[in-house]
Amino acid sequence: MAHSIHINQRIRENAQNISAALESHMMTIFAPDARKELRLFSAGEAAELLGISTSFLRKLHFDGKIPDVHTTPGGRRHYSAADMIEIRKILETTAKTSGAYLRGRREGDKVQVLSFLNFKGGSGKTTSSVHAAQRLALKGYRVLCVDVDPQASLTTLFGYRPEYDFLQSGTIYDAIRYEDPLPLSQIIQQTYFTGIDLAPGGLMLQEFEHETPQALMGNIQPPFFARMAAALQEVEANYDVIIFDCPPQLGYLTMSALCASTGVLITVVPNMLDIASMSQFLQMSADLLDVVSNAGANMEFDFLRFLINRYEPNDGPQQQVVAFMRQLFGEEVMVSPMLKTTAISDAGLTQQTVYEVERSQFHRTTYDRAVDSLNLVNDEIESLLQQAWGR
Ligand SMILES: Nc1ncnc2c1ncn2[C@@H]1O[C@H](COP(=O)(O)OP(=O)(O)O)[C@@H](O)[C@H]1O
Ligand SMILES: [Mg+2]
Repeated sequence: MAHSIHINQRIRENAQNISAALESHMMTIFAPDARKELRLFSAGEAAELLGISTSFLRKLHFDGKIPDVHTTPGGRRHYSAADMIEIRKILETTAKTSGAYLRGRREGDKVQVLSFLNFKGGSGKTTSSVHAAQRLALKGYRVLCVDVDPQASLTTLFGYRPEYDFLQSGTIYDAIRYEDPLPLSQIIQQTYFTGIDLAPGGLMLQEFEHETPQALMGNIQPPFFARMAAALQEVEANYDVIIFDCPPQLGYLTMSALCASTGVLITVVPNMLDIASMSQFLQMSADLLDVVSNAGANMEFDFLRFLINRYEPNDGPQQQVVAFMRQLFGEEVMVSPMLKTTAISDAGLTQQTVYEVERSQFHRTTYDRAVDSLNLVNDEIESLLQQAWGR
């Protein structure tokens, strides 16, 4: 056969080509070992995040109630995420009702653990989890992101190169593995994004899928579905919210994350094929959850929501699918969908989120539309947390 190819060899070559191309792409984005940095925020952005008016913010500076911040030669103030946390603390001391500016957990509140879930890749799990984490952090919540996906997209977004930085160790796998698990605190990384810590993901996580059947036979405790929750116990007091970015499959990793969760967000692209596959996904999830529930897993959730992603308001068929979902699932479908927007994919090209890029780098209406949509979604998630805390 003149034209036969060795498929394994071709795949390997392709993999090497992609890896080399990516490496050089990364080099052009940021120099090796250069660290990502969080930008400063305008007075308008700071006021919006703090929940006050820009004139009140100006007055606070004028009255000397809050510390000076970075000011441009033109007199414009710019706020770091740390400045905003400082201002929050000061405002809280003068607020009439407690928790007006520091909205995280209080004495007796349990930590909120959210899983972003769907077994389809590309439904927006990583995109929605990272934007939720960042918005919540900018609003003063202490957030831990846990990258449960061996593909480690979330870890990459935080400026790490999982295939170099955490090839042998340093991922969440180390904390949930069956042999000599490490305390989670030893693998948690403080990220450049103020208020967000990360438990990295990476290929090593795949080991958990391979080792679990054996561990089940050997009756190693705790069993797979309780290992994530067990690992979190050590550190949960340090956080208001813990966010799992799950892999696109319903394996042991996903089940373990799910069983540690208090809230579940299922990301859905509103087209009939995706809904059909989601129906299978839900059926399988329910069956598996029955099994682990019988084995003693915790199945108490505060909420489950469908998060519609890549929504195009002018697309007729999409509108029908969304209407169908709302009819079917009622209030379990989030009120605000995440719009399909080039701002998300454009920001992604430089490994950034919409909250990280500067408005001036984008077409204004595109940027504003994206930010508005993301804010509505994430503020809805925030109110679910508040409700779970009984507020
Ligand atoms: N609302 C959106 N609009 C435009 N692009 C999006 C949107 N949501 C996700 N994407 C893009 O789609 C791709 C897959 O999204 P991702 O969040 O990685 O999905 P998952 O984690 O479910 O596999 C990414 O390149 C992301 O930038
Ligand atoms: Mg992902």
